Amino acid sequence: MRKALIAANWKMYKTPAEAKAFVDAFLPLVKGHTRDEIALFPSATSLAVVIEAARGSNVAVGCQNIHFAEEGAYTGETSASMLKAVGGTHTLIGHSERRQYFAETDEIVNAKLKTALKHGIVPIVCIGEVLEERESGKTSEVLIRQTTKAFADITPEAAAPIVIAYEPVWAIGTGKTATPEMAQEAHAVIRAEGAKLLGPAVAEKMRILYGGSVKPDNATSLLGQADIDGALVGGASLKPDSFAGILKY
Ligand code: PGA
Repeated sequence: MRKALIAANWKMYKTPAEAKAFVDAFLPLVKGHTRDEIALFPSATSLAVVIEAARGSNVAVGCQNIHFAEEGAYTGETSASMLKAVGGTHTLIGHSERRQYFAETDEIVNAKLKTALKHGIVPIVCIGEVLEERESGKTSEVLIRQTTKAFADITPEAAAPIVIAYEPVWAIGTGKTATPEMAQEAHAVIRAEGAKLLGPAVAEKMRILYGGSVKPDNATSLLGQADIDGALVGGASLKPDSFAGILKY
């Protein structure tokens, strides 16, 4: 009943010309694909060109990051209105690389989430434990804390569009994937916490994506888990055939 979302996080890769070449090659590979929602997250400089190239297709486009403020003196940032003005519909929030390298806190994630919801942008809130936390048995605790703080002051009515991405930090770009069972266990913890915070009806409908070294050859087993409702893909989303291969799970 939850339509899966398969999302490509291109991080700081691809010039606008490279991004357009991807879309031109990718669209024919996924023509008529309606089982899943598909979304691309190019860098800010490629947003407009990717949105234009994907116009009228089954592929949505979003930003890798937005600022929580409406506008202002925030050098280097992109606002929700700017994203919407170029036709973007989705945004990632709180990716672990943002948390790790750009000091994004749970409080900032919460503020960005509220801004995205206010503007009708579909937010994909990224959470996940680092290796040390997993090894010391703190995974559930971390996921519960990140979920609770992300959802602070958000009502069940406002929460419907929220998508969560569970990305164990030790699995991102490392080639190490959580086993489907490990991922399922984490997703179940997140959904249970979502039910506590927003009610079971919202939590039941909330899509929880898995991210961390998803590839065409492990997508089927991961996406076969009951609480895994899609994937957030980095490295394997950079080539059209590889990303389209994941969509064949
Ligand atoms: P990866 O990245 O697929 O390269 O591990 C996933 C992500 O960071 O979203």
